[in-house]
Amino acid sequence: MKKLIAGNWKMNGSLAANEALLSALAQGLAVDQPLCDVAVCVPAPYLAQVHALVSSQPALSVLGLGAQDVSNQASGAYTGEVSAAMLRELGCRYVIVGHSERRQYHGETDAVVAGKVQQALAAAVTPIVCVGETLSEREAGQTEAVVKRQLAAVIHANGHCISEIVVAYEPVWAIGTGKTASPEEAQAVHAVLRAQLKAATDQAARVKILYGGSMNASNAASLLAQPDIDGGLIGGASLKAPDFLTIIAAARA
Ligand code: PGA
Repeated sequence: MKKLIAGNWKMNGSLAANEALLSALAQGLAVDQPLCDVAVCVPAPYLAQVHALVSSQPALSVLGLGAQDVSNQASGAYTGEVSAAMLRELGCRYVIVGHSERRQYHGETDAVVAGKVQQALAAAVTPIVCVGETLSEREAGQTEAVVKRQLAAVIHANGHCISEIVVAYEPVWAIGTGKTASPEEAQAVHAVLRAQLKAATDQAARVKILYGGSMNASNAASLLAQPDIDGGLIGGASLKAPDFLTIIAAARA
């Protein structure tokens, strides 16, 4: 299966910085065409700008546009929320759902995350569903139980459509910390998630399971070499064009 390298810009950027980053990416992608799928998940106010830039530069046509969150409601009196249909209309192919920063700082429960996944799938936007344990959960030996509980809620609410999602395993202790799960540690959790998907769908082999958490230009290749690591969700390193391009180049099928 083709790997997916998705950048998560988080709450970073400006009109000028986005344009500079995308033009640096365009230069790199023009000479070294990716063998993987590539996406950039950008702050909502910049979706239209990035969509326009991606559409106007042939070298960027390989970039799938993504958002970082979506409402669990279809429309109506939900001030501040953005619906999946709106994302679709703005050209989004992907949306990150249930990132640990949203679970931690915005109180997103497993049920809310499952509802967001339903909304994304209904609008034909591929949800990148994040799961992952905190440091204390890992130290208490609860890693497997936590990620299985998080994914089970999404499977339960989405039935056979589950083969349409992308999963991202992001250990919370590795996000933005410079501490990465070792390839073996990550693979062990990915295998657990794959087995859980297999029990839910006969299409589990085609569900991409990304690793995220301090993936960078130097550790990407060894993580991506693991059998159940089908790509990466990249935060900090996706804001630096040379690093993001190196990670894309490391993602061969
Ligand atoms: P990081 O972030 O690569 O900066 O650790 C990953 C993420 O939060 O998606």
